[in-house]
Amino acid sequence: MKEAIPEAGEATLYDSRENWPPYTYRDYPDIKPKAYEAFMKFLATENTSNKVLELQPWISLCASRCTFCYYPTSTFNQGIVEPYLAALKKELEIYAKTKYIKTSQFDEIVLGGGTPSVLGVDQMIDLIAFCEKRFNTTDEYFIKVTCSSKTLETEKLEKLAEYGVYQVDMGAQTFDDKLRKQLCLPDSAQNLEQAIKTARKLGLCVCIDLMYNIPGQTMESWLNTLKKAIELDVEIDTYSLDVYPGTVLEKQLKAGTVPPQGDAEFEKQMYLKAYKLLTEAGYKAIGHDRFSRVEWHYKESCLNGWPWAGILTTGFGCIMGYLERFAYTNIEDVNGYIETMKSGRLPISRLSESTTEDMMRRVMTRLYLRLPVSKQEFFEKFGKLPEEVFPQQIKSLKEKGLIESDDKEIRITKLGDLWKGNIAWEFAPENISQKE
Ligand SMILES: C[S@@+](CC[C@H](N)C(=O)[O-])C[C@H]1O[C@@H](n2cnc3c(N)ncnc32)[C@H](O)[C@@H]1O
Ligand code: SF4
Repeated sequence: MKEAIPEAGEATLYDSRENWPPYTYRDYPDIKPKAYEAFMKFLATENTSNKVLELQPWISLCASRCTFCYYPTSTFNQGIVEPYLAALKKELEIYAKTKYIKTSQFDEIVLGGGTPSVLGVDQMIDLIAFCEKRFNTTDEYFIKVTCSSKTLETEKLEKLAEYGVYQVDMGAQTFDDKLRKQLCLPDSAQNLEQAIKTARKLGLCVCIDLMYNIPGQTMESWLNTLKKAIELDVEIDTYSLDVYPGTVLEKQLKAGTVPPQGDAEFEKQMYLKAYKLLTEAGYKAIGHDRFSRVEWHYKESCLNGWPWAGILTTGFGCIMGYLERFAYTNIEDVNGYIETMKSGRLPISRLSESTTEDMMRRVMTRLYLRLPVSKQEFFEKFGKLPEEVFPQQIKSLKEKGLIESDDKEIRITKLGDLWKGNIAWEFAPENISQKE
């Protein structure tokens, strides 16, 4: 089904689009003994949420560093792999023995990162098998592996497919070789295309990350990249490039060695053009940044269960873990992580426990994920309706045509899709910073 999109150039409601919601890991406080204790107590309880979880062991190692990347990854070195995998299994084991996890079910095992494909294929499969043995999976669960095309040789792909891996995720970013070089991506567009073709031939689902508003990227280059992705028949995550403090890209921009990014209007037009091209090619916009042509992906429980379900992320440098009202990140340094695991403590570096008020605000960020807010569920959880808790925000967003509601739910409109990040920020407390 084709979806209409807001017309380019229509009334601008905000100066620029927010691409991330509030309550990301940057806002979590450093872990304190009391918070750790509260989390351990929580893990000793039964999971009564009725939601299915996702398990993510992270391999935050990369063969090289992309200039824009803000993820806390380390450079791959063969010597660290075995001690790291042993430590990672210890962390997984700690969680697997808790009551909360024993009473939980997982419908996805995702090797995240980083680029787990820097490992040998037998190491990847061993880690997946370890997870399958220690954690309860649903009858039909999916295995996904994050990969870089540079380290994804045909033999690896064949063995992963044979083992039953369902999907490989690749940080493709762009098919424009000039931009690939500028961003220090590790291989050519041709190599990337070949890896995708091999994976597709083996029957694997492929999901690629593409970035827009890359310094020097023209609209033509962006559209050509999208057309290539459509031709290769992949699922697509589109990210607007954000320049993070401390990245090589930030330094390059300051020094003027790369061209500046496009302005807010150009960024918006890039999003709108992508939306149009992809929906016309049969893709549906789901989650925060996904375009999908696979029906069941729309229903993935981890996405739909936000914020009541959970993603159990593990490993050094993991940043997106959450279990109901707890959200955490792990130690970023691989050696520090390995040392901590010797003590038998969970290697958490930042931990946030949401209050009831925070949880109400987090429920409203479902709008950012293109999900409806069910009035009944909100009432069952909090004893109040969303309109009673957020009267001004809801009234104002409705007047702007960004959200709509009926007796059952509140959802974003087609215009709201463009401004979904800004909508999420309307529900944030004033003391959370919008920019770092
Ligand atoms: C941590 S990466 C995992 C993928 C894998 N490591 C790879 O690159 O092959 C997840 C995605 O986040 C996106 N990303 C990283 N840095 C970003 C930035 N500064 N702004 C926007 N998106 C970014 C990229 O599209 C990247 O592929
Ligand atoms: S974008 Fe992916 S491959 Fe590049 S440095 Fe970040 S995690 Fe590594």
